[in-house]
Amino acid sequence: MKKIGIIYSFNTQKTSKIAKRIAEAFVGSAKVEMVNVEEITAEQFARFDNLICGAATWFDGELPNHWDEFVPDLEELDLKGKTIALFGLGDQKGYPENFLDGMGILAEILEAQGAKLVGFTSTEGYAYESSRAERGDQFCGLGIDYESQGSKNKERVHAWVEKLSLEFK
Ligand SMILES: Cc1cc2nc3c(=O)[nH]c(=O)nc-3n(C[C@H](O)[C@H](O)[C@H](O)COP(=O)(O)O)c2cc1C
Repeated sequence: MKKIGIIYSFNTQKTSKIAKRIAEAFVGSAKVEMVNVEEITAEQFARFDNLICGAATWFDGELPNHWDEFVPDLEELDLKGKTIALFGLGDQKGYPENFLDGMGILAEILEAQGAKLVGFTSTEGYAYESSRAERGDQFCGLGIDYESQGSKNKERVHAWVEKLSLEFK
C-alpha cells in the first residue's frame, strides 16, 4: 500500500478539516500519516516519498505561520525523487488578486528543490483576478474556497484524491 504524509498545521480551522477529508478519502487505498507542520523537522519531511502539503493563504498573498517558519529548512532539502501534491485554501471574492498565493509560493520552493509536483487541477469554475498558484489554465494543486464555494469541497476533494491515487507511486 502507498504511504503518504499529509503535512499541515493542526491548529488551523479550515485547512485541518480539508486535510482530514483528504485522509478519509484515501482509506483502504493508501496508508496516510498526518504530520503537524508546527513541529516538523527536515528529517521527518524526508521520511515520505509521497507527500501532500496543505496551506491557506494569509496576510494578503503570504504563507501562513508555521509554513513560513519551515521555509529555510525546505530550501536546504534535496527533494529529488519526492512526489508532492498541494492543496491550498483561499478566498477568491475577498482576496481576488492573491487567490491561493500561499499554495503557489510552496510550489515554487518545492520545485526549486527538485520535487515532482502532481495533483494539478483546472482553474475552471473559480473567479479571481490573479493567483501565484496558476499554471496556464491549471492550479498547481487543489484550490479550496470555504468562503464562497464551500458546497463544492466534498466533490473537489474526492475527484482530487482519485487523481492522486494514480499519480502517487
Ligand atoms: C487576514 C486574512 C488574510 C487573508 N489573505 C488571503 C489572501 O491573500 N488570499 C487568499 O486567497 N485568501 C486569503 N485569506 C482567506 C483564507 O485563506 C481562508 O479564509 C482560509 O480558508 C483560512 O484557512 P484556515 O482556517 O485553515 O486558516 C485571508 C484571510 C484572512 C483572515
